[in-house]
Amino acid sequence: MASPLQRLCFLNGLTSVLAFWVLVNDTGPERSGHVAAWDAGGQQFLIHGGSDTEFRPDLWAYDAETGTWDLAPQLNSAALKRGEHVAVWDPRELALWIHGGFDGVTLFNDVWRYSDNRWIHFAGGPGEAPTARSSHVAVWDTAQSAMWLHGGLGGDLQDDLWKFSYRSLSSSSWVQIHPIDNRLPSARAHHAAAWDEINSAMWVHGGYDSQGLSNELWAFDTKASTWSLVSQSGPGLRAYHVAAWDHTNQAIWLHGGLGGLNGLAQRELWRFNILSHSWDLIANQIQDGPVARYYHAAAWDVTSASLWIHGTCFQAEAVGVWSFKVGYSEATAHETYPNVTQPA
Ligand SMILES: *[C@@H]1O[C@H](CO)[C@@H](O)[C@H](O)[C@H]1NC(C)=O
Ligand SMILES: *[C@@H]1O[C@H](CO)[C@@H](O)[C@H](O)[C@H]1NC(C)=O
Repeated sequence: MASPLQRLCFLNGLTSVLAFWVLVNDTGPERSGHVAAWDAGGQQFLIHGGSDTEFRPDLWAYDAETGTWDLAPQLNSAALKRGEHVAVWDPRELALWIHGGFDGVTLFNDVWRYSDNRWIHFAGGPGEAPTARSSHVAVWDTAQSAMWLHGGLGGDLQDDLWKFSYRSLSSSSWVQIHPIDNRLPSARAHHAAAWDEINSAMWVHGGYDSQGLSNELWAFDTKASTWSLVSQSGPGLRAYHVAAWDHTNQAIWLHGGLGGLNGLAQRELWRFNILSHSWDLIANQIQDGPVARYYHAAAWDVTSASLWIHGTCFQAEAVGVWSFKVGYSEATAHETYPNVTQPA
């Protein structure tokens, strides 16, 4: 089972925190541009789609208890072949949702739901629905049984925001959300998002827009229906990275991606504290852990408070699954940045 091959130790005055990357298993499918979710019921890290030499339809589950990968039973596999899509997990109904993506030829606008070993298809239309797209972001809002979806690439870069409300297998609907003022993130793709259930907010970081890589951290308050630009510091310019919400520490985690002035693959692990609005660099470019990566997939394990990651581009040997066990930590190498004033 898991062995702490890599260890990072942090000391800061009164609090000492031990947090480390673990190479949970060094095998797994070679994959990039895929999606991931954590199944707390089954204690499984799920990955779907993406590509190695071609786009794949498969759903894999890494079972944290047995320490093995399984290819899940599936139906309609050809139709599920896609990458650069989005996935969210519904913890109440133990269901995985995916939307959109690209199979090398076609851009999709449909929704699929996986539970009890079967996939169910929801057509993108008729009626109001987001256009076909890839490289967008989505989060699951458990309180409302809804998927919030933003941006992506559908011909052009998109800046629209949508809510998919799930009521039953025969009754679900899309609605486009129009923020109450004109402040909103520019059209962008390959950004990263996490759902903050405390503030009912979708946090969105980075990506690229028509100007290039972005360093912006935005929050969409779903109750007030407003976007706020919260920070432009911390990780800086970043795209093709992953994000996760950490309820224990009330924080957003960001890992990897392409970044910096040269747009190179990153190893950094960052944490944004939503109470203090401060960034912590938890693991930097030179410390041990997974190789620099982007276009990977991640999920948050609520049971053990860990970030799980898998895959990357152009690194055939980087097939293993890694986990960063967070637990509860006061602070590490701590830096506080001033809040960004919201633009008019
Ligand atoms: C890693 O996963 C493979 C494939 O499921 C399995 O055969 C192997 O025992 C696992 N290794 C460890 C160390 O858990
Ligand atoms: C940033 O804003 C938050 C929320 O308004 C506040 O609690 C925090 O103190 C601010 N941080 C700084 C560094 O000004």
